[in-house]
Amino acid sequence: MSRELRAGSEEVRGESDELQASSDKLQVEREEVQAERRLGGDFLRTLQRVVLPRNTLREEILPFQTGQPAYDAFPFAVWSKLAARVYRYLDFQHLGYEDAAGYFPLREAIADHLRVNRSVQCEADRILIVNGTQQALALCAQLLLQPGDRFWIDNPGYVNARAVFTLFGGEPCPIPVTGEGLNIDYAIRHHPDGKLAYLTPSHQDPVGGTLPLAQRLRLLAWANDHRCWLIEDDYDSELRYRGKPIPSLQGLDTHGNVIYTGTFSKVLFPALRIAYMVLPDRETFQAFKSLKALNDRQSPLTDQLILTDFIKEGYFHRHLRKMRGIYNQRLQCLLSELQAHLSDRLSFTDPSAGMHLAAYFSTPVDEVRLMQAAAARKLVLPSLREYTLGAYDRPGILLGYAAFPEEKIRKAVRALAECFAEIS
Ligand SMILES: Cc1ncc(COP(=O)(O)O)c(C=O)c1O
Repeated sequence: MSRELRAGSEEVRGESDELQASSDKLQVEREEVQAERRLGGDFLRTLQRVVLPRNTLREEILPFQTGQPAYDAFPFAVWSKLAARVYRYLDFQHLGYEDAAGYFPLREAIADHLRVNRSVQCEADRILIVNGTQQALALCAQLLLQPGDRFWIDNPGYVNARAVFTLFGGEPCPIPVTGEGLNIDYAIRHHPDGKLAYLTPSHQDPVGGTLPLAQRLRLLAWANDHRCWLIEDDYDSELRYRGKPIPSLQGLDTHGNVIYTGTFSKVLFPALRIAYMVLPDRETFQAFKSLKALNDRQSPLTDQLILTDFIKEGYFHRHLRKMRGIYNQRLQCLLSELQAHLSDRLSFTDPSAGMHLAAYFSTPVDEVRLMQAAAARKLVLPSLREYTLGAYDRPGILLGYAAFPEEKIRKAVRALAECFAEIS
């Protein structure tokens, strides 16, 4: 626009403002169309719908946040000693492009661990190192689902699994959970056309429960008859505080229908971004490895070298034993504080495993007000609503305890009791 026009009469100025506004509007519309074209319309819309805002934020670690391990108990001295050694004696061949499947000695160490501790049938040459369970699930979605394919997902269930399967075109079939995990009878009766089932059979996420043997065998037989993939997310099975460890579902699979995934996010720390998949045969392994290579070529290698030494030199198992002790103490502290201060407001049972507790409201609660009261006291209360598709008929909250020393848990439970008192 020329200087003269801007300095001209009221009328001209009015017209020029209008012109400017409509040209700005056109520009915005053009940019939106271009962005949508570049970012891929429907896919973008689904992405915006499924992603949780908190997944892209940096969060302060506050009680009762879930998914945070006890960083205060991590053996940083050992890790940094191993890291220094790795960098000091680094073989230059590790600085180039490596096998997309991951560092072979790490895959061997993981295979040894899984065979002994999780009854997984595996050899190192069918293990793929991935950048977190999230990548394992994204690869499954890309390779195993066609747009419109239906997938089973427990309800309430792991939000990030549901999101990524939906993003790649899957149609969720929410399956209710019983105290023993996914309701297999319901799933078979109502959704016999499921092409893929995502499940956490050793410890249902987020409400707990273990799928019994008879249900596992029924599911495996059904999946084989119906050519349905079973994705077993064994995310926190090493963290069991009482009773015998629960063997994996994959260990019972005689037909190669289970894809097993595990992660170091819970037992070490999430930012490490190292997880693994166990693929049932060579062909499936090769397909996943090629897809992984196309997604990000390979996972970062130096952390894999450090982790290999950490496992092979016995530190990993020592750390696991220590963490089980600490988490069990924190859980017992949480249970006894809840019993003392909130037993009339919340109902809960000892999960004997994991890093959080699911607690249900004993009487109806205005969750918006509860969350506001909690935020004012620097508490985070993940609501079961977030994990639920459709009818939210058993309202409650999750209480993460793993990351918080007992003194902090005691204070936080008292603050939570104040929140309930304030809103009632
Ligand atoms: C059910 C479940 N699986 C896996 C994970 C870990 O995911 P990742 O390995 O991508 O960190 C979590 C983390 O919260 C989870 O809740």
